[in-house]
Amino acid sequence: MALTMTLELQALLLTCLVLLLHQKDPGAGAQKYPDFKLQQSQGPVVMATGETLTLNCTVSGLGPIGPVKWLKGSGSSSQTFYDLKGPFPPRVTRAVDESNTDFTIHIRDVRLEDAGTYYCVKFIKVIDGEEVFKSGEGTEVSVHARPSEPVMSGPSRRAVPGQSVPFTCSAAGFFPRDIQVKWLKNSVSVQAEPPNITPELSRSSYNMSSTIQVTLREDDIRSELTCEVQHITLADPLRRTYALRQALRVPPNVSVVAAPPGAVEVNKTVNFTCHVRGFYPGPATVTWLENGTETNAGSTTRPRETSRGLYELKSTVTVQAGEEKNGSRFTCRVVLKNLKPISSTGTLRIAAPAQWGPSDSCTGDNSAILLSSPGIWLGLLLEKVLLAIVLFFLFKRSRP
Ligand SMILES: *[C@@H]1O[C@H](CO)[C@@H](O)[C@H](O)[C@H]1NC(C)=O
Ligand SMILES: *[C@@H]1O[C@H](CO)[C@@H](O)[C@H](O)[C@H]1NC(C)=O
Ligand SMILES: *[C@@H]1O[C@H](CO)[C@@H](O)[C@H](O)[C@H]1NC(C)=O
Repeated sequence: MALTMTLELQALLLTCLVLLLHQKDPGAGAQKYPDFKLQQSQGPVVMATGETLTLNCTVSGLGPIGPVKWLKGSGSSSQTFYDLKGPFPPRVTRAVDESNTDFTIHIRDVRLEDAGTYYCVKFIKVIDGEEVFKSGEGTEVSVHARPSEPVMSGPSRRAVPGQSVPFTCSAAGFFPRDIQVKWLKNSVSVQAEPPNITPELSRSSYNMSSTIQVTLREDDIRSELTCEVQHITLADPLRRTYALRQALRVPPNVSVVAAPPGAVEVNKTVNFTCHVRGFYPGPATVTWLENGTETNAGSTTRPRETSRGLYELKSTVTVQAGEEKNGSRFTCRVVLKNLKPISSTGTLRIAAPAQWGPSDSCTGDNSAILLSSPGIWLGLLLEKVLLAIVLFFLFKRSRP
């Protein structure tokens, strides 16, 4: 008797327990459908944006009435992603349409916001709706995004050699956060601080920017600065190159040379040539001033690129050496954008009619060459030597 009671009690308790479990934990209802199996055993998946994601889920055996749905996220953040009834999310398709056993789905053109954990869930219909009957283990999906093509920017204005200027390389929209930036100047590595990484507004990807300071040199006209971005999503680093000449402004060397170089006779013509050498960038304006007053005279050549990559040009004024112009100063003034004008002056010297000496010289201020005298000196010397030879022979002859 006592034994029957115990057995009956046990059976009752068990029934109660089953009922209780059925109500509290819907998953326990599985015991009613022992053959029912839901298979979602796909491990974590790493995708790149734009790829197609396949989420596998199959069911077998007899199950209760109720739909199979895909949920994204778990707990309170869980939301129905795809209920296989519609309206279907635009990028989602079923692998096997209308199938009652294969609930595998494809998500086309994966985006960063598709990252998350997806659960394949079998629901059971209850009086007031439906409850979870059995849930898959969930498939964790990470979406990796390639950084955008890097963008490089230099100083806002050109700088002269010797100045230190910033260069910035940036790339956007990558995931995960880890990224490496390398700087090279003419293929030689340049030391740089680690990049500054910030989350994007949506927080599903990151942006980075890396800045370095470079002291410009005159020969950087042919130099290149390269920023190399390496990320887990890239087989080869992304590169961006900046030609340093875009950041350079090289002031010219200006000098005035007179031709002929010495003092000239009255009414002869003299050419003052202004040599403007080694400047960058190309455009340069040359004006001539006669004794400080601007003149319209002078013809200027177009800038010519030298083998060093810098430019040079020359400008010439032709002057009629009227007596009243003795001592006139001819100034060549070179103007390059955003640089102070650079000048050089030549002075016209007119020889006094009867006077021929080394003091009467015409020079460019910067050239400081007294070319007029050597010819005359040489002439004088030669004359003396010839005279000496003639005298020597006469002397020899006079003494038999
Ligand atoms: C001055 O320049 C003109 C034209 O450029 C040239 O014909 C002339 O020979 C030059 N004169 C001298 C003295 O160099
Ligand atoms: C120079 O030229 C001016 C005017 O052309 C003339 O009056 C003067 O006699 C000339 N002088 C010489 C030394 O030839
Ligand atoms: C020109 O000036 C120099 C120096 O000022 C002087 O020696 C020379 O005699 C002058 N020439 C003439 C033609 O006046």
